[in-house]
Amino acid sequence: MDSTLTLDLPTHIGSEAELGEVMTRPSAKLIEFVKTLPSPLLILGVGGKMGPSLAVLVQRATAATGHNLKIIAASRFSGTPARQWLDEREIETIACDLLEREAVRKLPDAPNVIYLVGLKFGTQQNPSLTWAVNTLAPSHVCERFANSRIVALSTGNVYPFSSVQSGGSIETDSLTPLGEYANAAVARERLFEYHTRKNKTPLALLRLNYAVELRYGVLLEIAQKVWANQPVDVTTGYFNCIWQADANELIVRSLDLAAVPPAAFNMTGVETLSVRKIALRFGELLGRSVSIVGQEADSALLSNTSRLSGLLGQPATSLDTVCGWVAHWVKTGGSTLGKPTRFDVRDGKF
Ligand SMILES: NC(=O)c1ccc[n+]([C@@H]2O[C@H](COP(=O)([O-])OP(=O)(O)OC[C@H]3O[C@@H](n4cnc5c(N)ncnc54)[C@H](OP(=O)(O)O)[C@@H]3O)[C@@H](O)[C@H]2O)c1
Repeated sequence: MDSTLTLDLPTHIGSEAELGEVMTRPSAKLIEFVKTLPSPLLILGVGGKMGPSLAVLVQRATAATGHNLKIIAASRFSGTPARQWLDEREIETIACDLLEREAVRKLPDAPNVIYLVGLKFGTQQNPSLTWAVNTLAPSHVCERFANSRIVALSTGNVYPFSSVQSGGSIETDSLTPLGEYANAAVARERLFEYHTRKNKTPLALLRLNYAVELRYGVLLEIAQKVWANQPVDVTTGYFNCIWQADANELIVRSLDLAAVPPAAFNMTGVETLSVRKIALRFGELLGRSVSIVGQEADSALLSNTSRLSGLLGQPATSLDTVCGWVAHWVKTGGSTLGKPTRFDVRDGKF
């Protein structure tokens, strides 16, 4: 058993190394679950914000059981340190552009596939690439892995904004969002659905919003404004979020929810969070007075995650714990990815 495994979370996280360790601590539920997975597990699009910690989370869960599960991590690995991070942890990596059908054909067989590929930012400048990544890559993967079980990431952006009082969109709501990125994300789901229905491939689609950790995410962005004495605009006044490690655990355990025809699940925290209240909380934690501008609109991008949390349980890490970590990180000048979520965008333009 990995001796660093413990349920006790630290009060503060002081370095990227510690962050990496905390984010990849597997829960008992995950450790039990990975025992059921035949080898290998293939993770596609691993080079982004979530993939590296997801791969290492599974690796640590597997090590804790002594179960022989090989993890193969594929991505283009374009200009990110992700590959080095995975290499250092002895996770097999394959450089692969999923837009290339032949390259996808050459990927090794895998009974279980986790699909993280997506493109959002830059859509305004190059919409055709957004549509290609979100439609061609799913088609290539579904053709290649017709006999696998697939969990594919989607986004809460597939819904239009919902009223703040509603508690958020539910899975049966219409997918009629605003803007090209969100519509390409609907297309990503529809392509997955089309192929997996045709090939009878078990699939679970996870509509995520928003993952947070200390180097990116909505909480970091609000905390940074408060720390810098900048006004916090509350026009987009509400959001949902989930600690990235909890999201990663749910992604893996959702392999059990893959079904024919495919099932879709909203994946986020259970609370509707107020930007104003979070800003005021960061004011307390950071010892700053908070300047609020704007007035809350009555709609926002919100998801109701009852369906998924009813099946797999609620995310384990409390919001207050994460806010404490974020505040400490910002106060001590922790590094960031420089990738704003732009959660306050209301016209669908990314
Ligand atoms: N993080 C969030 O808060 C959030 C919220 C909603 C939805 N999601 C969804 O969750 C998934 C994972 O999130 P994330 O934050 O890790 O996303 P991300 O940072 O955008 O990572 C996705 C990765 O996919 C890889 N990729 C893109 N095009 C590819 C291609 N043609 N071939 C192979 N790999 C390709 C890229 O890595 P390489 O450069 O290495 O290829 C990219 O970094 C995404 O699909 C996203 O839509 C995330």
